[in-house]
Amino acid sequence: MSIKPRKILVTSALPYANGPIHIGHLVEYIQTDTWVRFQKMHGNNCIYVCADDAHGTPIMLRARQEGIEPEALIARVAEEHKADFGDFNIGFDNYHSTHSEENRVCATRIYERNRDKDHIARRTITQAYDPVENMFLPDRFIKGTCPKCGAEDQYGDNCEVCGASYSPAELKNPVSAISGATPIDKESDHYFFKLGDFEQMLKEWTKGGHLQAEVANKLDEWFEAGLQEWDISRDAPYFGFEIPDHPGKFFYVWLDAPIGYQASFQNLCDRTEGLEFDDFWSKDSDAELYHFIGKDIIYFHALFWPAMLHGADFRTPTAIFSHGFLTVDGQKMSKSRGTFIKARTYLDHLNPEYLRYYFAAKLGSGVEDIDLNLEEFAARVNSDLVGKVVNIASRCAGFIKKRFEGKLSATLSEQALFNEFVQAGESIAERYEKREFSRAVREIMALADRANQYIDEKKPWVMAKEEGRDQELHDVCSMGINLFRLLIGYLRPILPATAEKSEAFLQVEPLTWESLATPLTDHQVAKFKPLMTRIEPKQIEAMLEHSKEDLAAQDAKKTKPHETATEGHLTKDPIADTIDFGEFAKVDLRIAKIAKAEHVEGADKLLQLTLDLGGETRNVFAGIKSAYQPEELEGKLTVMVANLAPRKMRFGVSEGMVLAASPGGKDLFILNPDEGAEPGMKVK
Ligand code: 2FM
Ligand code: ZN
Repeated sequence: MSIKPRKILVTSALPYANGPIHIGHLVEYIQTDTWVRFQKMHGNNCIYVCADDAHGTPIMLRARQEGIEPEALIARVAEEHKADFGDFNIGFDNYHSTHSEENRVCATRIYERNRDKDHIARRTITQAYDPVENMFLPDRFIKGTCPKCGAEDQYGDNCEVCGASYSPAELKNPVSAISGATPIDKESDHYFFKLGDFEQMLKEWTKGGHLQAEVANKLDEWFEAGLQEWDISRDAPYFGFEIPDHPGKFFYVWLDAPIGYQASFQNLCDRTEGLEFDDFWSKDSDAELYHFIGKDIIYFHALFWPAMLHGADFRTPTAIFSHGFLTVDGQKMSKSRGTFIKARTYLDHLNPEYLRYYFAAKLGSGVEDIDLNLEEFAARVNSDLVGKVVNIASRCAGFIKKRFEGKLSATLSEQALFNEFVQAGESIAERYEKREFSRAVREIMALADRANQYIDEKKPWVMAKEEGRDQELHDVCSMGINLFRLLIGYLRPILPATAEKSEAFLQVEPLTWESLATPLTDHQVAKFKPLMTRIEPKQIEAMLEHSKEDLAAQDAKKTKPHETATEGHLTKDPIADTIDFGEFAKVDLRIAKIAKAEHVEGADKLLQLTLDLGGETRNVFAGIKSAYQPEELEGKLTVMVANLAPRKMRFGVSEGMVLAASPGGKDLFILNPDEGAEPGMKVK
C-alpha cells in the first residue's frame, strides 16, 4: 500500500541581516534541516524556505555606521549567511530576503486585507525623539537610570540589574544611544493591529494542538494579561516598506518579517513549474505549515502571526515548534571566553557534521536550553561516529575489496539480524517525526553497538587468516556493510555529507527510508575512503582562540552602542557594565612607537606589533590588519594599554592592547611622530 505523500512547508526564523550566523543560531537551522531531510527521505513533498530579515532601525544604523547604503549591507550579509548555511549543509529550497518585491506585495496584501476588515486602528502617540539625529528612538536606543533600582546605563525597556520592565518614559536621565542627546517627547500618528479582535480565534487556535504544551501554558498567561493593540508602524527615517496609504510611515520590521516566509515561498513558486502559492497558503489548503523558532519570539509567532493570517483570509500554521537557547560549557556564550563562536570560525576548524550530530544528540521536542559541552562534544563524536559507525565500514570494506573484488555476497547470511535493523527503523522514524532527535540517536547508536558486537563475535580478521573460510568471511563482511548502510540511512537526516560519501562508497542512489529495507546483495562497492576523522582537542582550542581573535578585531573596529542591537526581543548589545573612576584610573595608557609590524601567518585579521615604550618593548597582537599594511605602521606612534595582563593567544602572548579607534573599516587613527608625543609617555 502506498501512502500519499504529505505536502509540507517548513521555515526557520529569519536571521537579521546585520550580523554573522553563530553557533547559537545553528541549533535552530540544524534542527529544522534535520527534520526536513527526514521528511524528504520519507517520501514527503517537504519544502524548506527561509530569508534574511533585512529591515529595521539597527540595520539602518549599522549601514550608516559603515558608511554604506542599507541595500549594500544586506546584500553583503546575505552572501555571508548563504555561504555559512551552505557549508553547514542547511538545505533550504529557497533563501530570500524580506527586502524584496515579493515581500512588499505579500505585506501590503496582509495589511490591506486586515485594514479593510477594520483590524487596523490609528492613534497619536508620544514617543522619545532624538533632536540631533531627527528620529524617533526605539526603546533599545535609549539608555538611562533604572526607575526601580537606580542602576545606571540601562536600556529603555528593561533593566539588566534588577530585571524590571518599564517604558522609556519611566527611565531617569534618558539619553539617546545614537547621539547622546537628551530625547524630547514628540507626537506622531501610529497604526495598530487590533490583536484583541482575534482573542476568541487565538484562544481556540492555541488550544488546538498547534503548540507545545509548555508554550500553550505561557500563552494562557498572556491572555490573562490581556491582548494589547500592536504598533505596526514606524516613522521615517526607517529602512523598510512604506505603508501604502500612509507616506512617511513604514511597516515595523516585525510586521513584514514573518510575511517573509510567504515571500520566500512565492519567490520559489515563481521559479518552479507546478508549485502554487495557494496550495500551501489558502484557507482550504491541505498542506501542513510549520515554523521552527526560538522561544524568545513565541509572542510574534503564536499570537500576531496567526491573527494576521486569519484576518487576511490565509490559513494558519499547523504548528509552531519552539526550541531553547544554546549555552557553551554551561554558560551563556561569551566573547571573552571565546565561546561566542561564529559559524565561519567553527568551519575554519571543524567538520560541520560533528556539530550537526552533537546538536541532534542533545535535541528533544521541548523548549529546554541545550548545552554544548566541548569536552563531551569531542568525546561523543569520536566514540559514536568515528569509533562505532564509520568503524563498521572500515572493518569490513578492506576484505571485500581485497578478497572479493569489491563485490558483496549473493545472499544475506543473517536475515534475522538485518530484519531487526529494518524493524528498528519504524521507531527511529517516529522519533524524527516528533523531533525527539536525541532518542533517535540513542536508538541508532544501540544498533551500531549491535553491529560492532556482531563483527567482534565473528572475528573476520581471524577468518581471513584461516584456510577454507572464504565464504564465511565474505558473508560476515557483506553483512557488516549492509548493517552500516542501514545505520548511515538512519543518520542521513543528521549527517548529509557523510551519507553522501557513504552512498558513493556503496555505489547506490541517495538512500530513502523505503529503500533501506532491501539489502545490497551481489553488489559492487567502491574503494573505501575514510569518512570522518577524530576531533583533536587542539582543533577546539584553536577555534576558541580564533573566536577571541575575532573579538579583538571587532574591538579595534568599533564600538557604537547599537552594534549588535536587534529589534523586538532581548539580544543584548556588547556595551559592558560601567566602571567607576577608580577603576578607569587603573588603566595605564602610554604612547608607544610601532617599532615593527608584521603579518601573522594563519591569522586573517591580526598584525603582530613590536611596541617601543621608551626603553621597554612589548609584543602585541592587534586586529587592525583590515586597515593597515604593516609597513605603513612602522615608525608611527599609537596609544596602548600598558598594564593589561598578558594574554595567551593562538599565535603567541599579547602583552598589552593598542587603542586604535575608528568608525570601522579602513581609517584607524594613529598618531604621527611629529605630534609631540614620545614613546613611554603617560596619556592623561
Ligand atoms: O529574532 C530574530 O532574529 C528575527 N530576525 C526573527 C524573525 S522570524 C520571522 F518572523 F521572520
Ligand atoms: Zn533596575
